[in-house]
Amino acid sequence: MVRIGVLGCGRIGRVHADSVAVLRGAELARVYDPVEASAREVGERYRAAWTTDVDDVLADESLDGIVVASPTPTHVELLTRAVRAGKAVLCEKPIDLDIGRVDACRTQLGDLTDRVMVGFNRRFDPSFADIRERVAAGEVGALEQLVIISRDPAPPPPAYVATSGGLFRDMMIHDLDMARFFLGDVVAVTALGSNLISREIAQAGDIDGAVVTLRGAGGQLATITNSRRCAFGYDQRLEAFGASGMLIAGNQHPTSVRYSGAERTDAAPPIFEFFLDRYTPAYRAEMAAFVAMIETGTKHSPGFDDGRAALVLADAADRSLRTGTTISLG
Ligand SMILES: NC(=O)c1ccc[n+]([C@@H]2O[C@H](COP(=O)([O-])OP(=O)(O)OC[C@H]3O[C@@H](n4cnc5c(N)ncnc54)[C@H](O)[C@@H]3O)[C@@H](O)[C@H]2O)c1
Repeated sequence: MVRIGVLGCGRIGRVHADSVAVLRGAELARVYDPVEASAREVGERYRAAWTTDVDDVLADESLDGIVVASPTPTHVELLTRAVRAGKAVLCEKPIDLDIGRVDACRTQLGDLTDRVMVGFNRRFDPSFADIRERVAAGEVGALEQLVIISRDPAPPPPAYVATSGGLFRDMMIHDLDMARFFLGDVVAVTALGSNLISREIAQAGDIDGAVVTLRGAGGQLATITNSRRCAFGYDQRLEAFGASGMLIAGNQHPTSVRYSGAERTDAAPPIFEFFLDRYTPAYRAEMAAFVAMIETGTKHSPGFDDGRAALVLADAADRSLRTGTTISLG
């Protein structure tokens, strides 16, 4: 039985706690949150020991893996301490907002970063993973173009925006990783941004919509479209276009029921509302992969360097937006 501890019992910490609880072969052993009510609630729900002292978790020698699901500024310190304590780590994205801190952490930990997995859960989404495998198997011929669309249902609160690191580092980082998942190394980044949705976001110096174009080392192009608002739910689509065909993953609905009447035919229920329901299977598969990597002792993937590379792309997109130029990398 692989024993897991979770640091941070907020939105995503609860998702991970739940994924461990439903996974055969893993046990949610300890949870920590500085807010006692959160730690207690999650601990009691899953019959795990709970604490408001992080050292109770980090010093527990019986734990094999630790999930870092705390606010972003705490990730580097917690993942460093956990890895040094001999644990495998699943660290939420982004590793940090500052590439300098990420690089300093990389230098300090050296090969120990092999034990760090970064929470790019969308790589484990059954539809996106299926497309990735089929592209790799040559089903659409050589990949030429990738289209990623990712729109949130509504802008986050201003307080969240203020510390988020901006749309590219906070939101698009998932899509930048998805582009790397398909294209490998990216050599050029061009970004355009807009402020059409939220005055608060504009006042915070951030954008609420963006289109980013990437060029892969193999010459392939990718576009990423992000919006902080979408009237019909959580819009998550992907298209891989190749020399001999195309694979598309569309939006998903909670049920497959369709209505037909005089005014509409084949009307579907609304798509999923947000990441917590849309990506449940992906979070579960991600946790299963983390536990399997602990069991087999293999290098964790997506790993620390994938987390770093996505942040480099987010920084490049930011630079492109501010300078109005294409940023070359590599
Ligand atoms: N992969 C994804 O889909 C996804 C989705 C949401 C959030 N995230 C990432 O997860 C992280 C947490 O986001 P969230 O939305 O769950 O935030 P949240 O605010 O809902 O939860 C954070 C929790 O951490 C606790 N906390 C505060 N300081 C802490 C510390 N020093 N150590 C441990 N816990 C601490 C808070 O009390 C809170 O319970 C962020 O880095 C975010 O970018 C990833």
